[in-house]
Amino acid sequence: MAKDKKILITGAAGFIGFHLSQKLCQAGYTVTGIDNLNDYYDPTLKKARLTILKALPNFSFHQIDLIDKEKMDALFKSKGFHYVVNLAAQAGVRYSLVNPYAYIDANVTGFLNILEACRHFPVEHLVYASSSSVYGANTLMPFSVHHNVDHPVSLYAATKKSNELMAHTYSHLYDIPTTGLRFFTVYGPYGRPDMALFLFTKAILEGRPIDVYNNGEMQRDFTYVDDIVEGISRLIPHVAAPNPDWNSDHPDSATSFSPFKLYNIGNNNPVKLLHFIEVLEDCLGKKAQKNLMPIQDGDVPATYADVDDLIKDVGFKPKTSIEEGIGKFVEWYLDYYQKKTFV
Ligand SMILES: NC(=O)c1ccc[n+]([C@@H]2O[C@H](COP(=O)([O-])OP(=O)(O)OC[C@H]3O[C@@H](n4cnc5c(N)ncnc54)[C@H](O)[C@@H]3O)[C@@H](O)[C@H]2O)c1
Repeated sequence: MAKDKKILITGAAGFIGFHLSQKLCQAGYTVTGIDNLNDYYDPTLKKARLTILKALPNFSFHQIDLIDKEKMDALFKSKGFHYVVNLAAQAGVRYSLVNPYAYIDANVTGFLNILEACRHFPVEHLVYASSSSVYGANTLMPFSVHHNVDHPVSLYAATKKSNELMAHTYSHLYDIPTTGLRFFTVYGPYGRPDMALFLFTKAILEGRPIDVYNNGEMQRDFTYVDDIVEGISRLIPHVAAPNPDWNSDHPDSATSFSPFKLYNIGNNNPVKLLHFIEVLEDCLGKKAQKNLMPIQDGDVPATYADVDDLIKDVGFKPKTSIEEGIGKFVEWYLDYYQKKTFV
């Protein structure tokens, strides 16, 4: 990717947005980050990530909400972005049962503003976060982007699937190359406090029991954040193109006659939740007290990513083992929270 390309990363103060912004800036690209810094989880963690990013000379930040169309348009107009990576969203499956409107605002209206801005201030490629949750009720493993995904089981998943449909429409109508990325349970340093690894670590260290859903029978394709960032970085300049073999009698869902593409980015190695917890216990040197619970509404029992297209198109397959990844997370967690306790 040429170094003079200007890149917009939305959700830059978020977990994945922070890591991607850091990597691209360190590689010499000019990155503009936006985020509304909402309080879905502790905003001090978002601010800590931003402090690191703001120290990089080629990073600039604007506190903007995706749903503020005027500010979004003004930003696109003034900056002339080549690439846009939309990571800003209301994330989390369980919270979508509590506050469904937050998902429609950020993920549907907000994403429409991204598409409209790309339409009026053309970009070379729009890359956006989808999610493994779109596989919903599917059980055929591994989950492939070529499978039908019409049965979401949470509103969060429905908004992510909607993003893919909206992106296809804009790829078709306005010839905007779009690539949707279905991430599989991402974890790592500076991770999200609402996710299992963070919640478990905090509870184990504080001597509190952890809630283990689906009696620990849950399986997840846990994916280390550096692998997600590597996948995104390789796909940004791999601009989506029409598939000349696309057949409207047998429509492939991951490609199109329009410049539209979908990929999974996942570890391709599902792990049982109980094993994940054992590795965490080893890294912390402390045993968990486990509350075995039934599966929660909106959750899927297992995820497993087929990453053949990622390997074929950009020669990359996530490779970090959970032993290595959880080790790095625990190292970061202990360092970050110890420092905070003593300042
Ligand atoms: N972490 C995962 O396991 C995972 C898995 C699948 C998909 N995803 C998707 O990847 C993307 C990044 O996830 P993450 O884990 O970094 O989450 P995150 O919550 O840490 O990051 C999202 C960021 O977007 C910001 N944001 C939310 N609504 C906004 C709005 N309306 N305007 C501007 N900023 C807004 C938030 O403040 C936050 O900093 C999201 O789209 C998420 O749905 C994440």
